[in-house]
Amino acid sequence: MANNRENWGSKLGVILAVAGSAVGLGNFLRFPVQAATNGGGAFIIPYLIAFVFLGIPLAWIEWTLGRYAGYHNYGTSPSTYHVIFQKKKKWAKYLGSLGLLPPIFIIFYYGFIQSWILAFAFYSATGTLMDVVAQGPEKMTEFFGNYIMLKTCVGGIPVAIIFFLITFIANMIVLSFGVRKGIERANKICMPILLILGLVLVVRVLTLPGIGKGLAFMWNPDFSELASPKVWMAAAGQVFFTMSLGMAIIFCYASYLKPKEDLVLSSLTASATNGFAEVIIGGTVVIPMAVLIAGANIEECAKLGTFGLGFQTMPYVFGTLPFGGVLQTVWFTMLFFAGITSAISIIQPLISFCEDDLKFTRKKSVTTVSTITFIGSLTAIFGLAAGTVDELDFWGGTYLIVFVGMIQAILFSFVLGRRKAKEAKANGDLPAQVNIEPDENEAFAAMNDGSQLKLPRILRPVIMYVCPIYLIVLLVSFTLTDGLPFITLSNVDPNATVELLGHTFSKIGFTWAFRGFLLVLFILLNLAIAYAWRKGGPAEKGRSKKIKKMEIGNSDENMEG
Ligand code: PHE
Repeated sequence: MANNRENWGSKLGVILAVAGSAVGLGNFLRFPVQAATNGGGAFIIPYLIAFVFLGIPLAWIEWTLGRYAGYHNYGTSPSTYHVIFQKKKKWAKYLGSLGLLPPIFIIFYYGFIQSWILAFAFYSATGTLMDVVAQGPEKMTEFFGNYIMLKTCVGGIPVAIIFFLITFIANMIVLSFGVRKGIERANKICMPILLILGLVLVVRVLTLPGIGKGLAFMWNPDFSELASPKVWMAAAGQVFFTMSLGMAIIFCYASYLKPKEDLVLSSLTASATNGFAEVIIGGTVVIPMAVLIAGANIEECAKLGTFGLGFQTMPYVFGTLPFGGVLQTVWFTMLFFAGITSAISIIQPLISFCEDDLKFTRKKSVTTVSTITFIGSLTAIFGLAAGTVDELDFWGGTYLIVFVGMIQAILFSFVLGRRKAKEAKANGDLPAQVNIEPDENEAFAAMNDGSQLKLPRILRPVIMYVCPIYLIVLLVSFTLTDGLPFITLSNVDPNATVELLGHTFSKIGFTWAFRGFLLVLFILLNLAIAYAWRKGGPAEKGRSKKIKKMEIGNSDENMEG
């Protein structure tokens, strides 16, 4: 319940949890495809610029807003925006509902994809995948296609559904143990294993004779690509996705920090870990291997896309090497650990909403979120071929995250950034223990609270101005180029049809109907917010007199094993 909200057991725990969320399929599959198809080695330039001017500042902002939420015993945006506007603006909580949409939409498909990985890890370990590889690459494509299209069955039940249920239950079990005993512990186990498995693969790849050709393909810069705005947008979008920004995750995780616990350095450490996994592991394994062994060219990479490379090309390529079965198993096990730490991170914000805003017990929260996730996942499982996953990924995983990121940057810079920390402390918006320099504003007082590394003042303009402007430019250019054709469906053939549960529908009609479903979810979420406020809790009038009274200090002092 709200007044004894949990905290992380150790600083390492929260860093690993944030890094665990960030290191996911985006690092090992999405990044290589984005880089190879957007200028190869030259991609790293817009990528690094986006990392420094967008990713790192926004991560700091999100950690800060998250801990600010935690000061007030909340962990998600509706209640936090309400507090940020000093409980004076009725619309603030509804604006905050946008922050919860990405986790809702993403989890509907992420769990299903996570379950493919588990299945393929199983197929690798049992030798099935080696048998398929022996029959050639077409067989591999067919095997994967049949699996995800629910055509591979045992006893009449699609195997994909069995693996989905196992994955779903595993995620929920971890979450039912809570933040410290569930999420933190899972990350402390999974993250080191993931990094070790990743390095094993890197060493294997780098010791292959002739790998220089593959590396050259991945990393040879094509500087002419830098003139194209598309490349800059792809780089910024990748930074957003891979760092789990705008997804409510960092926000929620940071809300379980203690006041006076370092945030600036922890955030940097988590960002660096993710960057390492992305550029070193992600940049070395997939594309160079595919080029070397399967002779893939850029067009083929783009066509195969993220999943084609991960689930068809990689098992095939590994399968042709000595100890192929072992390498396949290492690959899918690494992906599974990356997947589970990301999946739990995207569900926790919804649990926090139930616990902190709706005041449900943990058991009731986990049950509620499980039910919603389960029903939502059915749309991805049965609607994959009809395009539901593309819709969920566009709205939840691409568009809204940038929008939410922009709202967060504006709230930080232009709402908290305009208020004096001294007054915030006096009226209970900031806890009394926060040390402030004279004349400090509320935003940076909250960010630097307990910092081991105080944010150098010279970086403030980057956070206050460069980052929000970068975001606005990104959002507008994305809307005008890729966004509008997708939103208006102008790129869809009017006669195209889709299949769902044996029925045929017009693609355009089906897509609008599915969007209607997503809109209904958005309305229901807002009704839940209205209900939470009516019940009391976040609605309590006046300033928060009782902000969080938590143990203070460096939690490494009471680090549990
Ligand atoms: N950062 C994650 C990745 O790279 C993105 C993500 C997080 C997706 C959580 C889903 C859930 O894969």
